[in-house]
Amino acid sequence: MLVRIVLMGPPGAGKGTQGEILERRYGVPRFSTGDILRAARRKGTDLGLRAQSYMDAGELVPDDVILGIIGEALVGDSARDGFILDGFPRTVAQAEGLTRMMDELGLQLDAVLNISVDDDEIVRRLSGRRVCSECGLVADADAAGDSDCADCSGKLVQRRDDDADTVRRRLEVYRDQTEPVLTWYRNSGRRVVDVDGMGSVEGITRRVLAGVES
Ligand code: AP5
Repeated sequence: MLVRIVLMGPPGAGKGTQGEILERRYGVPRFSTGDILRAARRKGTDLGLRAQSYMDAGELVPDDVILGIIGEALVGDSARDGFILDGFPRTVAQAEGLTRMMDELGLQLDAVLNISVDDDEIVRRLSGRRVCSECGLVADADAAGDSDCADCSGKLVQRRDDDADTVRRRLEVYRDQTEPVLTWYRNSGRRVVDVDGMGSVEGITRRVLAGVES
């Protein structure tokens, strides 16, 4: 099945968790701008250095940087048969840029998936999230208490932007800059699928698939 999906939702809504499941189910690549930026930071590239102060403060990385990343991804061979965009677009300017790029490539978006979760649950999830300092793997929720990555020898640590103050700022940025993107998509007639992101991962996946495949 050929899918071109945008995954949206506040920090900790489960975009990465559900995105990985969709990636396996549909056999298309998932481009997570957050993962790409964190990988660049671990490697110490110019992109990583440019992004780090924004990320640590819970602010958005400038649109031109992000559009450059996605532009490269979309013209690559791996994106030919579909893709999942996780955490992009996050501003109206990014949504307009994506539409322009897709128009130039003759591609259509199938759906914008909007996962919503209560703020209290977001704080609970993000305060408990542990990621590998070496490879970036997000530890399973039931791995609480483990100190080492299940995939490599890296140490599990809290993500730099998962402290309570930065999570609050990320939520403000989401409301100010990213929620308007949903309105923009609705007003432009795109198919926006709203999914309740509360409850078990499996239950949410069922709702996500029902929404995408309906
Ligand atoms: P990014 O990495 O995209 O962060 P985010 O959007 O804040 O989302 P998260 O990765 O925190 O959460 P998620 O929704 O993927 O949830 P997850 O599945 O991990 O961006 C980070 C930063 O990069 C931004 O602040 C910005 O600076 C920059 N950036 C990125 N994209 C940008 C863009 N387009 N423009 C500008 N700047 C950009 O789940 C969270 C936790 O909950 C995990 O521990 C998971 O195991 C657990 N969990 C998941 N589902 C459930 C469930 N159902 N029940 C219980 N626990 C669950």
